[in-house]
Amino acid sequence: MIFSYQLPKRSKQRQAILNHHLTNEDELIQQLIQYLDLNNSAQKIIQNIAQDLVIKVRGLPHLATLDAFLKEYDLSTEEGITIMCIAESILRIPDADTGNALIQDKLSSANWRKHVGHSSSLFVNASTWAFLLSGKMLRVKHDENSELEDTLSKIISQSSKPVIRQAVQQAIKLISNHFIISSNIQDSHKKSKEQSNAQFRYSFDMLGEAAITSEDADKYFEKYLDAIRHLKKLENNDPVLGPGVSIKLSALHPRFEYHKYESVFNRLYPRLKSLANEAMRANIGLVIDAEETDRLDIQLDLFKALCQEPNLRAWNGLGIAVQAYQKRAFYVIDWLIGLAESTKRRLMIRLVKGAYWDSEIKRAQLLGLENFPVYTRKESTDISYLACAKKILANTDVIFPMFATHNAHTISAILHLVNDYRDFEFQRLFGMGEQLYSLIISSEKFFYPCRVYAPCGEYKELLPYLVRRLLENGANSSFVNQILDLSISTEEVVSDPVLSIKNLSTVSNPKIPLPKDIYKPNWLNSKGMDLTQENTLLQLRENFEKNFEPSWNATSIINGIAQQGETNNVYSPSNHAHKIGKVTWADKKDVNVAIQYASRAFPSWSSVSAIERTNYLINFSKLLELNTHELIALCVLEAGKTVVSAMAEVREAIDFCNYYAYQSKKLFNAMHNQAVSIFKVQYIGCGVFACISPWNFPLAIFVGQIVAALVTGNTVIAKPAEQTPLIATRVIELLHQAGIPNDVLQLIIGNGEIGESIVSSHMIAGVVFTGSTYVAHEIRKAVCDEQRCCIPVVAETGGINAMIIDSSALLEQAVVDVIQSAFDSAGQRCSALRVLYVQ
Ligand code: FAD
Ligand code: 2OP
Repeated sequence: MIFSYQLPKRSKQRQAILNHHLTNEDELIQQLIQYLDLNNSAQKIIQNIAQDLVIKVRGLPHLATLDAFLKEYDLSTEEGITIMCIAESILRIPDADTGNALIQDKLSSANWRKHVGHSSSLFVNASTWAFLLSGKMLRVKHDENSELEDTLSKIISQSSKPVIRQAVQQAIKLISNHFIISSNIQDSHKKSKEQSNAQFRYSFDMLGEAAITSEDADKYFEKYLDAIRHLKKLENNDPVLGPGVSIKLSALHPRFEYHKYESVFNRLYPRLKSLANEAMRANIGLVIDAEETDRLDIQLDLFKALCQEPNLRAWNGLGIAVQAYQKRAFYVIDWLIGLAESTKRRLMIRLVKGAYWDSEIKRAQLLGLENFPVYTRKESTDISYLACAKKILANTDVIFPMFATHNAHTISAILHLVNDYRDFEFQRLFGMGEQLYSLIISSEKFFYPCRVYAPCGEYKELLPYLVRRLLENGANSSFVNQILDLSISTEEVVSDPVLSIKNLSTVSNPKIPLPKDIYKPNWLNSKGMDLTQENTLLQLRENFEKNFEPSWNATSIINGIAQQGETNNVYSPSNHAHKIGKVTWADKKDVNVAIQYASRAFPSWSSVSAIERTNYLINFSKLLELNTHELIALCVLEAGKTVVSAMAEVREAIDFCNYYAYQSKKLFNAMHNQAVSIFKVQYIGCGVFACISPWNFPLAIFVGQIVAALVTGNTVIAKPAEQTPLIATRVIELLHQAGIPNDVLQLIIGNGEIGESIVSSHMIAGVVFTGSTYVAHEIRKAVCDEQRCCIPVVAETGGINAMIIDSSALLEQAVVDVIQSAFDSAGQRCSALRVLYVQ
């Protein structure tokens, strides 16, 4: 079930990579600082060179318009984000009406007024007015703002919309042109030879990544092949001195991810091998880009396989990018050095800091991981970069170093580390760092080579790349942003990361809450696991095997439970009368008895303090967390969930407990305070609640209903779906273990008829139901009799959910969301997408 394929045996070096995925930042950075071992005088020398570079760059002419624009609308402002949203989507929209609608929709929600007259650039101020006024057109009806703006926006009538749209499109094209060299390899190569471009070496990147369909993957593969073949025609090729190609593995397979390990090896690897063979024949460099952290392990396996190919041995053009912002980076370098040694080749390592930081932080928080895979301080990333650089430079017999950075401090630190060694190169991105490197490549003092990573391709393939560049240029922590901001002193721009870290009380950044703390101070986020991590999966598998040996099927786990219980009868859904372990199939008599017990327990339970009831929920959530692996296994084996969905279920159940505990504390405290100050208001439970849940979320919904009813002072008869009694049984066991008295919470296992007999009982004071609309209506009818008019029925039922995709959507992203919404959990979510409208 987990790993149907044979995992390679992991070396010690590889284990070190696996072990440092989510490691503690403070400890690791201390080790890296020690390894780096820069004394005061070295730090001073580095800073002086860097400062000198910054002063010179600040004195050079630069692209005032673009820079001023990026500075005014940086991405820490709502307006900057709005512009990026428009930039990200406007070029896709083919028709004027939708384009106008998007612009108005986006522009009307931000506060442009605060940017008016802010910038010294006429272009930026003119843009601000355009944004303000076009945004205003929509708001004018309901917003009582300054008369001047109202008048102006009326003057700019509807007919001006095309002008604004064209201006926005033009501006976006200008920005895009800044970051891509050309639309095809022929032109790109030609341009690389023109004027000042000719001073640099080049690595061409064929835009395109994260293929969603095999067709896309085929297309990107052909583009790479075409680029390599084009360069093959050149004379005097050389992996170091000549042009090369950079590739993204996610472009070559529609599912380049750990879970598709076998398919990636079967389908992606042969393509990678073809590209490498072609690059070897062309005698150029081929470097594999670094992408999201969850792709690293599989990327390293592919890279290792490539290095071991006998016919590629003689070629020294094989390279890989390593992201220094990953906590594993230092260990990845170790492993690569080992790989180069064992395969007797010289590898190229492109050391970068990393371009996906924001999404890595969010992903870790979303998954509830124990820590982040990337550093949380810019200084940590810088230190990691230098430590990796030092390690690379100590192994230049097997590694050709390629230092990719636009940061003057990082460059001067490298210059210090290389000492007199010259067989390496710097690298920069097209459209960035040109002035800085003009000082490095040509000045007599330095004269070091620099290669440009030059993306070529169409606009429609550009967007993810462009977004990363805009993020990078707009982020106020970025060097490229700071060097242009003259309000930041040169000393500050080139501040030493080691010294800065030493002045901090903690290395890890307290402003970036750990995944568990994102809802702090209200409640704790549930813990999750990174299921793309080998170590996590191995542990999970081990626990599955321990709990559910010997054979991996539902019968075996049910037998396992039966052995602990009263009888050894094997569970059979058709045989409702059987007792299996603690799984008891109820009859109507059992229902009556259970309701009577619950009813008798109600007065004492409803007088238990709210705080005490809340604490039971917290206890229970901890027990769920403690038993996560077992619960995942149960969800997989009994409900047919995937491991990923099963983990989401357990987390959702835990989140229900923590969220309701928080809400009840808030609510009951508020009531308590009111009672003192105004008049006496009391919340009491209704009595016995029937909680009837479905099989599609046998853990999360089951738990959510029960804990909500319990914490508000009700006693509960819980009836899970008849398809998933084992999960329900385990949950009830844990709830009792958490302190909920047995008669306060009772489990009734049975079919729809049993459910009907529960809700029909006159002793039931309320119903929580999740399931079909039909049954919800039946329940409503059943509870609406003369004796019990108006008992609460809380029903969550099915519906028809629709999604509209207009042409502003990035299809690659929309497809992923559509598939997930319509088909995840076998399409059985009540919120599942059923109707899709595509413009
Ligand atoms: P700096 O401004 O000195 O550093 C920016 C770095 O600091 C970024 O990585 C940013 O995420 C990080 N940072 C910012 N705030 C924090 C924080 N609070 N905590 C931790 N870190 C923080 N990137 C890839 O991911 N994969 C690639 O394959 C790749 N290839 C590249 C190839 C070349 C030739 C070049 C020049 C760059 C490449 N990049 C790649 C992009 C690169 O990651 C960014 O351009 C780079 O991070 C910018 O670094 P810098 O030294 O120029 O800037
Ligand atoms: C990126 O695509 C340059 O590989 C880097 O952002």
